[in-house]
Amino acid sequence: GYYGYSQCFSSYLHPSKPFPSPVFLTKDSHAYLAALRSSIHNLKFLNTSISKPEFIVIPFHESHIQAAISCSKKFHLEVRVRSGGHDYEGLSYVSYTEPFVLIDLVNLTSISVDIENQSAWVQSGATLGEFYYKIAEKSKIYGFPAGSCPSVGVGGHFSGGGFGTIFRKFGLAADNVIDAKIIDANGQILDRNSMGEDLFWAIRGGGGASFGVVIAWKVRIVSVPPIVTVCNVPKTLEEGAGKLLQKWQNIGHTLPEELFLHAVIGVVTTSGLNSSRTVQVTFDSLFLGETKELLPVLQGSFPELGLMRENCTEMSWIQSVLYFAGFSINGSLDVLLDRFNQSKSFFKAKSDYVTKPISDSGLEGLYKKLLEDENISLILTPYGGKMSEIADTETPFPHRKGNIYKIQYILSWDSEEETEKQQSWMRSLYAYMTPYVSKSPRAAYLNYRDLDLGVNKDGNTSYAQASVWGLKYFKNNFKRLVRVKTATDPSNFFRNEQSIPIFKFI
Ligand code: FDA
Repeated sequence: GYYGYSQCFSSYLHPSKPFPSPVFLTKDSHAYLAALRSSIHNLKFLNTSISKPEFIVIPFHESHIQAAISCSKKFHLEVRVRSGGHDYEGLSYVSYTEPFVLIDLVNLTSISVDIENQSAWVQSGATLGEFYYKIAEKSKIYGFPAGSCPSVGVGGHFSGGGFGTIFRKFGLAADNVIDAKIIDANGQILDRNSMGEDLFWAIRGGGGASFGVVIAWKVRIVSVPPIVTVCNVPKTLEEGAGKLLQKWQNIGHTLPEELFLHAVIGVVTTSGLNSSRTVQVTFDSLFLGETKELLPVLQGSFPELGLMRENCTEMSWIQSVLYFAGFSINGSLDVLLDRFNQSKSFFKAKSDYVTKPISDSGLEGLYKKLLEDENISLILTPYGGKMSEIADTETPFPHRKGNIYKIQYILSWDSEEETEKQQSWMRSLYAYMTPYVSKSPRAAYLNYRDLDLGVNKDGNTSYAQASVWGLKYFKNNFKRLVRVKTATDPSNFFRNEQSIPIFKFI
């Protein structure tokens, strides 16, 4: 075992310090399993046969992270860093190959919002919900362009990109980062100035886990109007959803950047005597402005949708956060603070980018395919707007101009026994989509982590091996990520199944 690790760890602690001692748990500790499972979002990873950390460290202070890094190095243990635990493949708390230590940032959640300077410092362990709540507490006319699920952690989300309902106007969360604090493999705490522009570039979309432990982020907060408008139009195939989606493919990315209109495709059972299964497309939108400004825009560019005032509700921006998170818009904002009370399921997700509209026959085949498994849903997110104005190389996130929309496929099910069957059906859906989506590489979104794309076999994975998945997530930015990784962590201390590899000759 790792006898001596705990002594090593305590030797770094100073009881006289003005902050609480870290929580340190071994596999025998009473609280170990509860701590491990606290933020596991995908039930697949509760499976008892899945590898578990040798130790769990829950820091209250950055010095506790430095201690865990030093001791893990000494004992040749890998580290996994967890913020919100939403990684689709559990890479923040599962290692498929090596013994490891889990550093869980659940107690590093401080947030300070500075309205006057339109900025905020947010610690990585905070959730998006906590951040939105803190902004709203100070002002209803500021917001932040990040994801819709309040329990997602800042650490994984910002370092992997991070998009939400206002990203066509303001870009990704990562695009709005202006400074950061990271602990590198030497245990040094660096800010933007001391880490240099290469590393600062890498952690804004390249995934933090390859480079160190990001402790906190300084971001620009953005101004939003006092009233925004949310609209919702569901249509089944029988009600003409097919034609609408065909039109949406052509105009979703061309709409004004204040308007986000996404399409969610699912399988529903119609009620009534002749109840049957059919595909439904729900057009859901957020407009940064009032209904009276929105209606003429949509009636002009998408009259087929038949949008009417009754489909729309005016609210504050923070209420729209509640809406897209599935909460009542008139309820208390406190629900945004509840980081553990999200519904959990077994799931598998994948992503694709679309650069030209899918043909009618392609979509018809897709609807047929979807009817094979009612557990599937697809979220089609329109690109364009600000996303087309930011250069592909500005951050490691390369999916900018030329993409008309992104597809997320999500399949969820209720029991362990179904896992294999469901995942294999998901792969058949992904295979079906091949001719209709981006190619060479078939692009994917890092924050929708997918180990089917390829994995590092061991700590010495070659550039060629890692390119199989690396080019899909990062396209031409992958090379620069490898260069930054090689320069900042040459011993490959921060590694995982999809971490950026070291390459000695570039
Ligand atoms: P988690 O803690 O699992 O970390 C993810 C990865 O980042 C791991 O590799 C981890 O080691 C690393 N990491 C975490 N903290 C770090 C730190 N401080 N320093 C260095 N590395 C760190 N995405 C999106 O863009 N828009 C959306 O609307 C949504 N919605 C959404 C809903 C739901 C229900 C889920 C489960 C996921 C999403 N996502 C999303 C995807 C989400 O952005 C993605 O899973 C993030 O990586 C999650 O960040 P966490 O900190 O929660 O994950």
